Amino acid sequence: MRTITNINANWQFLKAEIPLEKALSYASQGETVNLPHTWNAVDGQDGGNDYHRGTCWYVRRLSTEEIEGERIFLEINGAAMSAEVYLNGRKLTEHRGGYSAFRVELTDGLDRSSEGENVLAVSVHNEDNDQVYPQKADFTFYGGLYRAVNLIAVPEEHFELGRDGTPGIKVTPAVDLVRKTAVVTVESWQNASEVTYEVNGETKTAISEDGHAQAEFVIDNVRLWDGVEDPYLYTASARLSSGDEVSTRFGCRVFACDPEKGFLLNGRSYPLRGVSRHQDLKGKGNALSYEDHRADMEIIREIGANTLRLAHYQHAQEFYDLCDENGIVVWAEIPYITMHMANGRENTLSQMRELITQNYNHPSIAVWGLSNEITAASPVGEDLLENHRQLNALCHKLDPTRLTTMANVFMLETDSPILEIPDINSYNLYFGWYLGELIQNDEFFDEYHANYPDRCIGFSEYGADANPAFHSSHPERGDYTEEYQALYHEHMLKMIEARPYLWATHVWNLFDFAADGRDEGGKHGENQKGLVTFDRKVRKDAFYLYKAAWNRSEAFVHLCGKRYVNRAEEETEIKVYSNQPSVSLYADGAFVGTQEGRTVFTFRIPMSGEHEIRAVSGDAEDRMTIRRVSEPDESYIFNKAAASVTNWFDAEENDPACFSIMDTLGELRAHPKAGAVIEAMMAKNTAERGDVAEAVKDNPALQRMMARMTMVSLLKQAGTDEESIRQLNRILQGIKK
Ligand code: GCU
Repeated sequence: MRTITNINANWQFLKAEIPLEKALSYASQGETVNLPHTWNAVDGQDGGNDYHRGTCWYVRRLSTEEIEGERIFLEINGAAMSAEVYLNGRKLTEHRGGYSAFRVELTDGLDRSSEGENVLAVSVHNEDNDQVYPQKADFTFYGGLYRAVNLIAVPEEHFELGRDGTPGIKVTPAVDLVRKTAVVTVESWQNASEVTYEVNGETKTAISEDGHAQAEFVIDNVRLWDGVEDPYLYTASARLSSGDEVSTRFGCRVFACDPEKGFLLNGRSYPLRGVSRHQDLKGKGNALSYEDHRADMEIIREIGANTLRLAHYQHAQEFYDLCDENGIVVWAEIPYITMHMANGRENTLSQMRELITQNYNHPSIAVWGLSNEITAASPVGEDLLENHRQLNALCHKLDPTRLTTMANVFMLETDSPILEIPDINSYNLYFGWYLGELIQNDEFFDEYHANYPDRCIGFSEYGADANPAFHSSHPERGDYTEEYQALYHEHMLKMIEARPYLWATHVWNLFDFAADGRDEGGKHGENQKGLVTFDRKVRKDAFYLYKAAWNRSEAFVHLCGKRYVNRAEEETEIKVYSNQPSVSLYADGAFVGTQEGRTVFTFRIPMSGEHEIRAVSGDAEDRMTIRRVSEPDESYIFNKAAASVTNWFDAEENDPACFSIMDTLGELRAHPKAGAVIEAMMAKNTAERGDVAEAVKDNPALQRMMARMTMVSLLKQAGTDEESIRQLNRILQGIKK
């Protein structure tokens, strides 16, 4: 018999950097909390990059009933970022890494006499250091005991519980798609001499040698784990004569990746198209309930994604379970992110060991991610390369069945030796948001694919921030409007659909998330690239674009711009996203027109006063009210200065025979006179912003990218004032092409 007792309730929490003895004596004066708990639920989400990072204590008395059983283990499913565990004043273990589970045996330290008192004390730390990842990244490093804590009682003879948080049982299905069979190897680790396994109604007994046993099963007419269509799960269990038992679900599927065909599931083309997810929620931080996880999965199903990048660390077991059950193909990764630390290698290896050991059986997981944008703040030096080689070798040793990958930062040269380490490649690109033009995303992949026809390439991140309070009929990069985000994604969707060789694409991000260091787009402490707001209450328009492209199960039409009510224009665009082939529009009950097409349907209507708009396709319909106003609604504009620049240069009449700020930096530089003007201006900027200019000078990838950008776009990104832009345009207009 194995008994699992959840001990989430009634911990004494002390937000104080105090030694163990004090924590124990002051425990009763602490705040009583139930797990999951984080101490950064509020200050980690309100901006200012000033959330509490330090050591806090969780203390709890164990009742006699809770510690009944022969051998008692403590299981902590998430202590962020590091923890030390004490039982009755004695240190039992420590754990480094805030996203993986760990266990420690309590048995010998328990006082099981009739008056026995047993007190657990866990010190949890999230202060900065140079050894435990993550240390530099665009999200809040919440501190706390933020997942379930359990006591596991097992008999003397039991399955292994200690090593890297192992589930004790490991299942490897090898599928023959032609014969429709699977050979399933079940392994387990235990301190007993014999194990009985059961798979698919068949039972086998195996002898355990050096604590390890295994058996092989053959499943004929195997039912595949077939993605969102049919994610069928089998169960394998292992039993000892002592009565201890473990079981796990598994799935029979074949994943493959081809440089030309992209991703293959069970032998057929299955382009992975989906989103990324962080594990946090407005007001709760990372202390999520099962209900929160389930609600997120429902939104993922609604948008119709078939893949998830679970960034940037190991997520909760419950969430990988939900992915298994819903047929979502997963990219799983460790938080080796942004900046390589000379003293962090051991931690990357232990976090990877735990990630793989704890999640090996999940059929949904397709790839292990080694790192994310690791060269953003570190050069590609030998230590960083060696760290990646060791991580890659570790992945293959622990799991020869899955591929490795990494998410590279846009400015990493594609001929960098680091790209040769993982099995398949991926890039995070933000052209059209942080910098550059949308088309540069297309160009990047075309060039990569042409130069490296033998490599698999994916698109691990792309996105644009939007605050659903902001609106514009002339959306622009950087304006934080819902409309720009929608336009951005319309471009990206087309770009992706035209390149089926991209093995996976993941929108950054499905949900807005906390990054306490951010303060932009009208919100403090949030990254607003989500297609859904942080509280999950608002699905931004771009959400419905992907739903229209991916969700085939439920017919719908979505009218964009519902929150853009007040419009100061004679004629306005009405945009509809739908997964249906035709959409009809009505304004104030009168038929406007029917459009045939795919995903995006646009109409124009004259504005006078208030209008009731209705979009219809079959039984699906959507409605909204918009209103003509005389002046632009100021509350819709975030960046007022940038908005005014847009307006004047749109209206400006340039002589096309002469140069202008609408030409690219490359075109201007190629002409002796225009080039000289630009060089002089750049030299002045260098003097003012030496640091940035230096970084650009030494980065040929950035140089090439900038050469393709229009001058006006470069100037606006650099924050150049309107008058200087006008002046440069006047000078360029004096130079004949
Ligand atoms: C990255 C990074 C993310 C981050 C995103 C962004 O490149 O990998 O963690 O949140 O960009 O800037 O929004």
